[in-house]
Amino acid sequence: MAPMLEMTGITKRFPGVVANDNVDLSVLPGRVHTLLGENGAGKSTLMKILYGLYQPDEGEIFLNGEAVEITSPHDAIERGIGMIHQHFMLVPTLTVAENVALGLGGRRGLADMRPIRRRLAEVSEQYGLHVDPDAQIWQLAVGERQRAEILKALYRDAQLLVLDEPTAVLTPPEVDELFATLRQLTADDKGLIFISHKLHEVMEISDDITVLRDGKVSGRTVPADSTRESLAELMVGRLVSLQRDVPAQAHGEARLEVSNLTVTGDRGTVAVDDLSFTARAGEILGVAGVSGNGQRELAEAIFGLRDADSGEVRIDGHSARDASPREVRQLGLAYVPEERMRDGAIGDFTVAENLVLVDFPTEPLSRRGLLQRQAIESRSADLVDRYSVKTPTLDTPTRSLSGGNIQKVVIAREFSSGADVFMVAQPTRGVDIGAAEYIHAQLLQQRADGKAILLISEDLDEVLQLSDRVLVLLDGKEMGTVDRAHATVQEIGLMMMGSART
Ligand SMILES: Nc1ncnc2c1ncn2[C@@H]1O[C@H](COP(=O)(O)OP(=O)(O)O)[C@@H](O)[C@H]1O
Ligand SMILES: [Mg+2]
Repeated sequence: MAPMLEMTGITKRFPGVVANDNVDLSVLPGRVHTLLGENGAGKSTLMKILYGLYQPDEGEIFLNGEAVEITSPHDAIERGIGMIHQHFMLVPTLTVAENVALGLGGRRGLADMRPIRRRLAEVSEQYGLHVDPDAQIWQLAVGERQRAEILKALYRDAQLLVLDEPTAVLTPPEVDELFATLRQLTADDKGLIFISHKLHEVMEISDDITVLRDGKVSGRTVPADSTRESLAELMVGRLVSLQRDVPAQAHGEARLEVSNLTVTGDRGTVAVDDLSFTARAGEILGVAGVSGNGQRELAEAIFGLRDADSGEVRIDGHSARDASPREVRQLGLAYVPEERMRDGAIGDFTVAENLVLVDFPTEPLSRRGLLQRQAIESRSADLVDRYSVKTPTLDTPTRSLSGGNIQKVVIAREFSSGADVFMVAQPTRGVDIGAAEYIHAQLLQQRADGKAILLISEDLDEVLQLSDRVLVLLDGKEMGTVDRAHATVQEIGLMMMGSART
């Protein structure tokens, strides 16, 4: 079969970085072609070139054997290329049908809606993409918005569809639905370019895989010849372990106790609803849930950033209800927040300054109110070394590090604080596989050292791999708590969506 798309020798330079370095990509019709790579590997750049958003410095693009120059997204769409962006591009206050009509032309830019609705219904029937054409986008759940976005591309007769990290925002059952749709599209001979860094998804859905590393193709393979480990090695350039070894161990005394906690969210509604749980010494308690089900408010209430309406929080037996963050830290809780650049580190501060941000007023980092430069430098040098933070110098502004390295700075600081309880939110989101391996190892080390860890994560694999028990949060309430030994991704995914345990 002839490829529908060939990109050959594509090079794209940005100041200081070669984002794509002589990349070849060949996509066959009726196949899911996965583009795999760590953050910054060059995936989005390659796709933006295909979609006419960037022009390559070198290289050529062939569609159905014909050399083409794609000069704009409009041009790309005309040539049958559709793009489902990581961030949706639909207008929230328009309906699904109106969004599809947008830009189709007609008088005053607005097309006649009747035939559009009719054809939309056909397309949605054909591919099992169910979404109400008259619903306004803002009313739709994330999965439905994504279906609307796919519908819009198919309505424009896309033959080649690019999906840039489409599963990042979906729950496991929604991922299953999306994959069913992708299968229907390939059965209809569409070509799909699928971007993800979730290796089990890549193994499940791909027909062909091209791996990028530092802008270059580091491998081309198919799932039958691959394992998750071999794919990770192609991505990272070294062997990485994906297994997490969580040895059985007895749990000790209660270190973090939350009882009947109720917290109001920003919109004045109940965000955490009468929630109770206990994390014990030597235990990782995972909190799973779809984003926006009270996780953020829970963490903020525990850390003293948000007042609770009722209930109690105890750290090592001491009440922390309505304590300030400083008092919470003194009681022995360290916190790795979800928004690491906003709440975890100060971008303009140096790496060294961020590493001592919490401890600097204490000995030996200060004496009689005076900062001890020498002590601060040796402490931060030690942490950079132990946590393998990639930074040019200790005095580099933290904001210029990659996301994974900023996360390592925050984790190094918090994990070296001697706290008894760690509350860790989304610790590996946006973090490379190698850094994730390291961060997980550190979490397990704290567990082995008898610390209690509250692990709040939307990454179900992460929660299931590390936690002793998993509490599923829905609408601020506990849907249930399961022992890891008995839990599966499917079951927890369903609980996250509101089905009771079976
Ligand atoms: N518009 C841009 N200007 C400068 N550098 C960019 C731009 N877009 C991407 N880059 C850089 O190019 C490299 C590849 O980025 P990207 O294609 O977004 O990677 P991926 O999608 O695989 O995470 C990164 O080093 C990134 O910082
Ligand atoms: Mg990208």
